[in-house]
Amino acid sequence: MEVRSLFPAHMKKTKIVATIGPSSDSPKMIEKLIESGVDVFRFNTKHGDVDWHRVRIKLVKKISAKLRQPVAILLDLQGPEIRIGKFPEAEIKLECGETIVFSQEQSSEKTIIFPNKKVLQSLKKDQIVLIDDGFFKFQVLENQGKKVLVKVLCAGILGSRKGVNLPGADLDLPSIIQADLEKLDMAVKEPVDFVALSFTRSREDIQLLKKEMLKRGVRAKIIAKIENKKSIDNFSQILDEADGIMVARGDLGVEIDLYQIPYWQKKIINQCRELGKPVITATQMLQSMVNCPKPTRAEVSDVANAVYDYTDAVMLSGETANGNYPLEAVQIMNQIVCYTEDKRGSSDIQAKTDTSLKAIVKGAFNLYKGMTAVNDNVKAFVVLSQTGTTAKMLSRYRPEKPIIAVTESIETRNQLLLTYGVYADFLHFPRGNIHSLRMIFQDLVKKQLLAKGDLVVVIKGKQWKLPDGMSTVSLETIVF
Ligand code: PGA
Ligand code: MN
Repeated sequence: MEVRSLFPAHMKKTKIVATIGPSSDSPKMIEKLIESGVDVFRFNTKHGDVDWHRVRIKLVKKISAKLRQPVAILLDLQGPEIRIGKFPEAEIKLECGETIVFSQEQSSEKTIIFPNKKVLQSLKKDQIVLIDDGFFKFQVLENQGKKVLVKVLCAGILGSRKGVNLPGADLDLPSIIQADLEKLDMAVKEPVDFVALSFTRSREDIQLLKKEMLKRGVRAKIIAKIENKKSIDNFSQILDEADGIMVARGDLGVEIDLYQIPYWQKKIINQCRELGKPVITATQMLQSMVNCPKPTRAEVSDVANAVYDYTDAVMLSGETANGNYPLEAVQIMNQIVCYTEDKRGSSDIQAKTDTSLKAIVKGAFNLYKGMTAVNDNVKAFVVLSQTGTTAKMLSRYRPEKPIIAVTESIETRNQLLLTYGVYADFLHFPRGNIHSLRMIFQDLVKKQLLAKGDLVVVIKGKQWKLPDGMSTVSLETIVF
């Protein structure tokens, strides 16, 4: 791999998202995780209060600056997710076949608290309710209004505040809750690069989030989490409205049949790729590493197969948030990604070229392919990309060579941390709209991203920072 970085772990093309939590929020650990290949930290706001997140977002930014290694922040909002309340004793023991109660309040019977009245009211006789990633299953016997009698279908010990899934149910819950708005308020003072919306159901959910963000001046890109049947049914409109997608396999695997997951993962990744919108493959990638320093063979294959699917990013959740081996998980994930990328061949897609920008980008990719057939000497693409669009359009082709995106926007630089194969480089142009390739190449050589004599394919416009102003594709040798 030709492009150098301060940390070899960042020389990969598939990006790594790590969820921060009690196992990974010390300055030392954050530093090690960044050095080991984390590109994006996910802040899962269904745990921790606003201050918890604010303090740690600041900390990640501080450490990223100290290490001079850009890292992006993804704020993951809870959305219309359903959770049970707290048990008086932290957990309860459930016996198979017993009858218990779902209610807003504790009663003399064995009770699971459902804080949301709407959810309770919606439960119908014989309906199946799943709790805690589907490990606990209940059948509704009778809805008495204030309380709902249910039959326990599997035994075990259930902890407080676990997630609830009602497969196939179409509940009219608000897509953004009060707690989410408080997190958005926080993001005004402490900017984030991405905002993810859990349980996105339709285009309107994203539009509402956009409105709330606009109101506050929060400028992050929006990631729609695909985690129930509705989001699958409405996927095209959601993809059209959002800036990126998360294949949220955790809840998706409870809301639809588990065996469908690989199919939808591939389909979603391909559709995102065709549009040049980043896609994250998430959840249980190295799950056993929560308790064990080595992953299972199946988990290693899962990460590798996501790379074979050409996902933009792979994600760790509990592994880094509350597991015992957060660093090992990132290190192993990075090794799998690097090795697999190196062994895997290239892949062609029929990406649409319905705009002049896309046509120009295709021209650049074809030039690269043509040159590769001649002498295989092209080292990288250099793309002048103020908004990141040109870099994303090129990334759709998943070229074997790195895409160096030169931008004068810190925002764009950070947002490209989720895009496959792109190394964004911040460069200030002292002469306003005027750019010179000489100045750009000098900077890239100084930063050791390129070396004298390297051959690169360049995409640029006549002037700097004109939207859709891309007009020139050229083959250049770095000399000065
Ligand atoms: P979560 O989302 O970790 O916030 O639940 C991801 C998933 O469900 O896979
Ligand atoms: Mn989820």
